[in-house]
Amino acid sequence: MRIDIVSIFPDYLQPLRLSLIGRAVDSGILDVQVHDLRAWTHDRHRTVDDTPYGGGPGMVMGPVPWGEALDDIRDREPDRLPVLVIPTPSGDPFVQARAVELAGREWIVIACGRYEGIDARVARHYAGRADWAGVAELSIGDYVLAGGEAAALVMVEAIGRLLPGVLGNDASAGDDSFAPGEMDGMLEGPVFTKPPAWRGLAVPEVLVGGNHGAIAAWRAEQARARTAARRPDLLG
Ligand code: 6GU
Repeated sequence: MRIDIVSIFPDYLQPLRLSLIGRAVDSGILDVQVHDLRAWTHDRHRTVDDTPYGGGPGMVMGPVPWGEALDDIRDREPDRLPVLVIPTPSGDPFVQARAVELAGREWIVIACGRYEGIDARVARHYAGRADWAGVAELSIGDYVLAGGEAAALVMVEAIGRLLPGVLGNDASAGDDSFAPGEMDGMLEGPVFTKPPAWRGLAVPEVLVGGNHGAIAAWRAEQARARTAARRPDLLG
């Protein structure tokens, strides 16, 4: 999979060189290309924003550098069809099902906005183009960030760890919290490791007893109780 990220703070995306995603990049499973939006400006001040039509606070990122950047990047892979992801607090929720869907794409371009966001005509324009696979405006949660970069990091990690070969053999994305299937989209329960007693707290008996049926039943009940307490919205 290829992921291009366009930002006025390309250094913000450096953590993608680290850890699980960094290894996926090094191994060739994931091709991550980070771009500075200002490379597609032509004025002396490398301007990317302007005052909002209709008034109001803050600045809006203009469509002109975004259009040039996205067209240029798109032309680098004539035989692939990219989907455009625009992180925004007013987007559709970025949930595990969206991560799974996006992990099935061959090419994602992420346009990171700052200020009050990107001129709405950018999303509209690329949604209507046959040489793009569509546009997804996505929010990572109900809070406001200063820009799309931190959200892009979240999305790339959530998507990248689903790619074949990124997680080790003993780890599986299948029993994640929110994963459909066995745990039915519930939260995972508590986990424990050695020592069996720590600061007066014992590991639950059932986990050390070796009865695999009893362990599975206990874990299912823990997941249900935790989901009911913390995320009742996830229970059908
Ligand atoms: Cl995707 N972007 C920004 N700027 N703020 C957010 C967000 C995204 N998701 C939640 N808050």
